[in-house]
Amino acid sequence: MKRNTVVTIGRQKSEGSKIAMLTAYDFSTAKLMDEAGVEILLVGDSLGNTMLGFSDTLPVTMEDMIRASAAVSRGADNAFVVADMPFMSYQTSVYDAVVNAGRLVKEGGAEAVKLESGVNFAKHIRAITEASIPVMAHIGLTPQSVNAFGGFVVQGKDEETGRRIIDDALAVEEAGAFAVVLECVPSVLATLVTEMLSIPTIGIGAGPGTDGQVLVYHDMLGLYGRKSPKFSRCFADVGALMKRGVFDYIAATKTGSFPAKDHEFIINDDLMEKLKRYAEPKTEPADE
Ligand code: KIV
Repeated sequence: MKRNTVVTIGRQKSEGSKIAMLTAYDFSTAKLMDEAGVEILLVGDSLGNTMLGFSDTLPVTMEDMIRASAAVSRGADNAFVVADMPFMSYQTSVYDAVVNAGRLVKEGGAEAVKLESGVNFAKHIRAITEASIPVMAHIGLTPQSVNAFGGFVVQGKDEETGRRIIDDALAVEEAGAFAVVLECVPSVLATLVTEMLSIPTIGIGAGPGTDGQVLVYHDMLGLYGRKSPKFSRCFADVGALMKRGVFDYIAATKTGSFPAKDHEFIINDDLMEKLKRYAEPKTEPADE
């Protein structure tokens, strides 16, 4: 049995033990993060930006998510794996939401799904949870609504959007979500929501008052070639280290210092002599 489950994650809130969640999109990174002790691995549809180079998450498909989720789940011995439902995989109907959530579990090996939903798709959350698939909700700045928001805009800074965040949080808890992501919400509002709910809140750009934090790992490891968001911190500049390694590899290749003797495979000298004779140009027998 895994060390992290919906039960242990729920318990972390009551025990005041902060939840550490990070994105992952492939086996090797998932394994590394799992070994480091991250509690939740999110196969985020942010892979549209970080792995596929799109400027938003809208083009991400179910196939993209299933492939990534399956790889991450193979690397996660203890971390709880949550897969994002991509744009238009659940908005179209409750039926589509349940079918596609099921695919992420059956084909993608995910243990839960995340959908960008508040009041608007609460019915969908209820139906998915009734199918025994745990749901993490995502409210505040929901990137799949970038065109409706008119950009990636902080939510909850005025009365209307502030009330909406409170209503959304209550609706997803009521619908059966086991946790909720609060993205780009003023810290004091995120703290209020955290105190109101009995399920854990996981913040990204929502201050220190939530029950846990999530970051896109490209941002926290200096791997994203584009500008990182204001709320992120570079914990280790792995991007710079990778570049250094690549520079060194290029230099070693060009000077011939790589590969060295101990990187080579050998065969015995007699066999090599035979192979040389075999490789010699064959002379045609002269005509009589
Ligand atoms: O897709 C993602 O990485 C996310 C996080 C930003 C929470 O949804």
